[in-house]
Formats: sequence, structure tokens, C-alpha cells
Amino acid sequence: MMETVYTIKDAREVLSSCRDKKIALVPTMGALHEGHTALMAEAAKYGDIVAASIFVNPLQFGPDEDLDDYPRNLERDLKICEENGVDVVFAPSEAEMYPEHPEVILSLKSMSLVLDGVKRPGHFEGVITVVNKLFNIIRPDFAMFGEKDRQQLMIIKRMAEDFNHDLEVIGVPTEREESGLAKSSRNVNLSEVEKTEAPAIFQALEIGRDLIHAGEQSAASVKERIEMHIIDHTSGKIDDLQIFTARNLDAVQTIDTDVIIFIAVKYERARLIDNMMVIIND
Ligand code: PAJ
Repeated sequence: MMETVYTIKDAREVLSSCRDKKIALVPTMGALHEGHTALMAEAAKYGDIVAASIFVNPLQFGPDEDLDDYPRNLERDLKICEENGVDVVFAPSEAEMYPEHPEVILSLKSMSLVLDGVKRPGHFEGVITVVNKLFNIIRPDFAMFGEKDRQQLMIIKRMAEDFNHDLEVIGVPTEREESGLAKSSRNVNLSEVEKTEAPAIFQALEIGRDLIHAGEQSAASVKERIEMHIIDHTSGKIDDLQIFTARNLDAVQTIDTDVIIFIAVKYERARLIDNMMVIIND
């Protein structure tokens, strides 16, 4: 039987009887979809106990972002958790997680100087602060994060290392619609027309990947072709498009090592992100 707890005290109490077992945590903001359930399935491979958290973390939303518009449906989410083998759900209120306005917020050095670190000031600081709290509350042995939010995954790996969390951060491949569109809680905020166009984001990434595999080494040329595809196939506007080394997110002009293509596209009520790792075979 799945247990749902709403307070930190209850979470600790329920988990105290499981300390002899391996716990795998899936942190989420709810509005669960197959991307989240893929993380839950992976968690079950690592842990004896699967814990999931559902908390829309206000600290990681900017003042002009979609905090109010973010989809919420706890009842539906709990059902999905139950159907996907989750043992314990931690679904705290905002007052439970932040009884006072937080005074101590973790900050980042170079990893927030690119991509969403720049486009969404304060976002990753909010993410690592809440994930740090979740790690302290749940104390998992494994924590699962999606490659769809690859910068987030890389930052959380570093946070866990830098703060000596006694756990392993596991990256899980991106779950996609048949069309290639990355599953996202924000997809429900796309209009019908936008929904039919948004697969162009993944197609554009595939075009970029294929160009690189065919020998194109100029990052500028690859970006130009990606941009053309987006402009021609969707009303969404490119908010960010970057090619970085996979190793440490350095900018590249000449593609001669493994890279990740990152893209963000803005629609009327949703900003969608996606990325593609491109492995160079020498
Ligand atoms: P949320 O957007 O709900 O995502 C929860 C987890 O699901 C993240 O690790 C994310 O990368 C993963 N995920 C989302 N879509 C995915 C997909 N299509 N395929 C695979 N994994 C996918 O990311 C957050 O919440 C928050 O920032 C959080 C880490 C919970 C901190 O508040």
C-alpha cells in the first residue's frame, strides 16, 4: 500500500522503518506524465523503496514565470504514483517547506552562467536549494533526474558531490511522444495548433545531430540549420540555442568533441526546452 505524507515529520517517521533498505527518490513538481513514470520505473531498479516528492517549488520560478499557470492535480498524481509502484509520496505544502522566507539559498558559480541559468535568473539556485532540502528530508540512496533537463541534472550531480550527500544521482533518458516531442508538464499549456508544430523542436535537433555526424564542424552552421527548421515549421520562437561540450558546458566553435545541442522555444503559454547529446566517433 502506498503511503502519502504531507509533513517532514511524517516523511521521516514513515521512512525510519526503511533505513535497512535502499531508497530511490524521484523528485517532481507533479502534473505527472510518462517522463516521470520512466523515472519511477528506473527508481524501482535501483531501490527497494521508491519515494516520490510532489512539490511546485516557488523558489525556482521567476516573477514573470508560470508559477500560477503551472498545472496542479494532486489526486490524479497520487493515482499515477500508485499505479507506477511508488511506495511513499511526500507532498508538502508551501508552508511546510518554507515556514519562513528562506534565508539561506545555495548559489552556483560557472554552471549557472549559461542557458537557463541566464534566461531564468535564480532558477537553478531555487532548484538546488529545494533538492538539497529533499535529500535531507528523505535521505535517499539514489535520486533520479531526467536528461530532458540536462543542465539541471549536471548541476544536481555537482551539488550532491559538493555537499557530500551520501547518494548517487542517476540520469534517465528523455521520454518522448511518438512525434518526438519531449514529454513535459508544460505541454498542456500548448494550443492545439502549437501541439502539432512543437515536434519541430526535436526534428531540428535531429537535423543538427545528423549534420554533425555527416562531418559538419561549424557550430554556427549547425545552429543556422536548426534555426531555419524552427522558423519554417513552428510559430514558436527560439529563446535559446547553444552548442556546448558535453564534458563541462564550454562553448564550441569547431565541433571536434562530444557536444550537447540545447534549445528553448517559446510558445504563447509555454517555454519548452530540449537537448541532444551528439557523440563524435573519431
Ligand atoms: P519536473 O519538471 O516535475 O520534473 C521532475 C523530473 O522529471 C526531472 O528530473 C525531469 O528532468 C524529469 N523529466 C521531465 N520530463 C521528462 C521526460 N520527458 N523524460 C524524462 N524525464 C523527464 O524538474 C523538476 O520537476 C524540478 O526542477 C525538481 C527537480 C523537482 C525540483 O523542484
